[in-house]
Amino acid sequence: MRLRQVALVARKLAPVVDDLTAVLGIEVAFNDPGVGRYGLENAVMPIGDTFLEVVAPTRPAAAGGRYLERRGGDGGYMVILQADDALAERARVEGMGIRVVERIDRPGAVGSHLHPKDTGGAILSIDGMEPPQEWQWAGPSWREHVRTDSSLAITGVELQSPDPAALARRWAEILQQQAERAERGEWRVRLPGGGLLRFVEATDGRGEGVSGVDLAVRDVAAIVARAKQRGLPTGDDSVMLCGTRFRLRQTLRMRSLALPGIEEYAEAHTTLPPAHLGAIELETVARSAAPQMMVGPLEGRLLKMLVHMVQPRSVLEIGTFTGYSSLSMAEALPSDGSITTLDINPLHAEIARRHIAASPYAGRIEVVLGPALQSLRDLPGPFDLVFIDADKGNYLNYYEAVLPKLSPRGVIAVDNVLWSGSVLDPAPTEEDTLAIKAFNRHVANDPRVECVMLTVRDGLFLIRNR
Ligand SMILES: C[S@@+](CC[C@H](N)C(=O)[O-])C[C@H]1O[C@@H](n2cnc3c(N)ncnc32)[C@H](O)[C@@H]1O
Repeated sequence: MRLRQVALVARKLAPVVDDLTAVLGIEVAFNDPGVGRYGLENAVMPIGDTFLEVVAPTRPAAAGGRYLERRGGDGGYMVILQADDALAERARVEGMGIRVVERIDRPGAVGSHLHPKDTGGAILSIDGMEPPQEWQWAGPSWREHVRTDSSLAITGVELQSPDPAALARRWAEILQQQAERAERGEWRVRLPGGGLLRFVEATDGRGEGVSGVDLAVRDVAAIVARAKQRGLPTGDDSVMLCGTRFRLRQTLRMRSLALPGIEEYAEAHTTLPPAHLGAIELETVARSAAPQMMVGPLEGRLLKMLVHMVQPRSVLEIGTFTGYSSLSMAEALPSDGSITTLDINPLHAEIARRHIAASPYAGRIEVVLGPALQSLRDLPGPFDLVFIDADKGNYLNYYEAVLPKLSPRGVIAVDNVLWSGSVLDPAPTEEDTLAIKAFNRHVANDPRVECVMLTVRDGLFLIRNR
């Protein structure tokens, strides 16, 4: 289950769409003639592979029009989730006594709008697509309208209510997830396929409904500046559009260890990655709570350069995530080279396998699902290049498991060895920091190897047999 679309409602469509596209740097992909039967017009705008919709009434008595009256103007309207088996979900929620007020059953697309009186909060729709990467509500050519220079993905939606705890529990029950208490009275339901539902107290007199959208963006300050220019209300990291607060989060970068602007400078003077890596970035931002785990463009190009220099026939990666680093390395593999990559998380493996299959390197990369230490037992080696980038607590175990299987001229590369600078803490208490410091000490004192620690991004250790 993942968050795929948020719909807002406006009195007038055109000016709101104008603000949204100009401020967020997005484009309209589709005006769905099908919403005419509800007395509405709409515009659907892709943000990565998630979608923002605005509907506006074309007749005063339309459902959207009544909603505008009740909530006192433009605002949030509907939350659309995507399920693997939307028909099974429909049957399940109906079994809970929740009424389905609108059913859409077409080839390749299923939709079930649930009765807001039964769910509380907003109109919740549980939809399904075949194939799942598609999204018929955004029309046949939405991919041509994805712009990635500014906004990357909708990562969450905020619902306000006089009783956020009760609403969070109700949605968690409906979606078979856990409601967690967060800071400042906020409640959260995290969707396993990506997206966060946040529940906050209603304090603006507008009552229960969608009050905010969380966006992953490239540059918060640039979006806030564009909103200010248009005279829209803004905060330090938020903009008000269509009566809805858009909370902006810059998610792709790790905290930089270099001088401000230096990493961006280095990236700007580094060869651009291919388009298929951009597609991974977008999906990762939308579906992962920690997209900065991807090595990203700078380190990805470094890994490719390393493969180019080492010319490994056999590459082992520990920590696939969504496939960015594997696919970066694959670009420079010699013709008889292959990559085996290990990950414990089924969602990560699913995303990685799909992107690998769609890339020019299908068949050259095998994703092995399971705890890496266990998978490693069945992999005899020898490995010419090993990239370690999984759970930090096991770094030492991974190193000891792969070193005997490293080919004589092989190289081990280990990511995040500077851990955002925490390695400088003389008495750390955080477990990962302790593990990384112990690992770094162990390698630096290991007479079997020669090593060099690079201060690229979050620190990359290069290690070879003496
Ligand atoms: C930092 S991410 C890897 C990023 C990836 N190299 C990239 O650049 O896109 C770490 C990955 O390690 C995986 N992981 C964590 N513990 C693991 C374990 N015990 N065995 C295998 N994989 C594990 C996580 O699921 C996560 O996908």
